[in-house]
Amino acid sequence: MILWTKHFETGFAQLDQQHRLLIDNINLLEEQLDHSNPSKEELAFAIHLVEYLEAYANIHFNGEEKCMESYRCPAHEKNQQEHERFRGFIREYKRHCEVEGFNLGLLRKLHQAMREWIEDHILKVDTSLRTCITLPPPPPPA
Ligand SMILES: [Fe+2]
Ligand SMILES: [Fe+2]
Repeated sequence: MILWTKHFETGFAQLDQQHRLLIDNINLLEEQLDHSNPSKEELAFAIHLVEYLEAYANIHFNGEEKCMESYRCPAHEKNQQEHERFRGFIREYKRHCEVEGFNLGLLRKLHQAMREWIEDHILKVDTSLRTCITLPPPPPPA
């Protein structure tokens, strides 16, 4: 379970809000996986949750990358690379589901990877934005 703290703040309210929502949903997935013997409905919900997380993360990544780019944040490239790594976790999970069929172990592994990634990523990469917004705002796009 990830608990939100001020250390996660980027200085951009909208990005922080999106991070909170991503964390809430990763925590929710953890709750679903805590059941040792989930029902069919609980499993279906967890699988849908992954779809939702994937779509929402992509929306967030696109907006955040544009924000970092416009503020010329030095972490911009690293941020893009790390987002791609996150997408890779889901790609890998789906590939395994296709090859060997869905099983709870695959979903648990995916959750663990996402949980570790998001905490580390926000703290080490996304929060680099904090130092950038003290600079003058970027010029409007040409
Ligand atoms: Fe990011
Ligand atoms: Fe982010």
